[in-house]
Amino acid sequence: MQILRTAAALRAALAGETRTAFVPTMGNLHAGHVSLVDLARRHGQPVVASIFVNPLQFGAGEDFDRYPRTLDADCEKLAAAGCDLVFAPDAAEIYPVPQTFTVQPPEALANDLCGAFRPGHFSGVATVVLKLFNLVQPRVAVFGKKDFQQLLVIRELVRQFNLPIDIVAGDTLREADGLAMSSRNAYLGASERIQAAQLQRELATVALAVQAGERDFEALAAAAARRLKMAGWRVDYVAVRDAATLQAPAADSARLVVLGAAWLGSTRLIDNLDFAHPFE
Ligand code: PAF
Repeated sequence: MQILRTAAALRAALAGETRTAFVPTMGNLHAGHVSLVDLARRHGQPVVASIFVNPLQFGAGEDFDRYPRTLDADCEKLAAAGCDLVFAPDAAEIYPVPQTFTVQPPEALANDLCGAFRPGHFSGVATVVLKLFNLVQPRVAVFGKKDFQQLLVIRELVRQFNLPIDIVAGDTLREADGLAMSSRNAYLGASERIQAAQLQRELATVALAVQAGERDFEALAAAAARRLKMAGWRVDYVAVRDAATLQAPAADSARLVVLGAAWLGSTRLIDNLDFAHPFE
């Protein structure tokens, strides 16, 4: 597996490739990322992963500085997963000049849910992903459903900018107690780690109620948020949405998704469950 640090080396290594499958990451990889590489291998070759903690998508006071940088361990995992090339640039390589020209995702998508609590986050994500797409020029790119809103932002980026890239979504991998795998789980203390699985359980409770015929999505979401708060979480949101648009569910929504974001101490966790619309 090649490990390249510069855009020039990356372009040279990928010159002439037309079937590249790409997995962008911020590193500190876990089994969920490895499953995305497995998925990428089924969709193209060579398989390229990037490791870049993108400063543009972190707000002031967020965890950019403490985000774990574990390049050697990450490369071992990627090599074992059959990745062909790792692109691990530093910030000066991606942002050689101040990035004053940024991608602004549609407001309805970018300023809602996580975007409402992390202003500018999805602009930072879309901007770096567009840059990475331009450098790697993949035919297929794989993103995890764990970051459901991000997945929709990227799909819209590709659609509205006519990028010739298929976006493939990888399922969320979970720990034995249901907690979604995330690089940020490493921040959790021992008792927080036990409590963390409650987020997924509350989302599942909402999803089951909807599937059983409940229609008052807001009441269900509010009840889940209340239970989380009573257990000590600081809740950003719990919401039921159309899985294709992230707007309020409509009668013709084919799939729904229940999403949540909440804090345990200084750790912000997100999760979601998507399911077929139960009352068509
Ligand atoms: O999901 C992530 O790890 C990041 O948001 C991404 C897509 C690599 C962009 O920095």
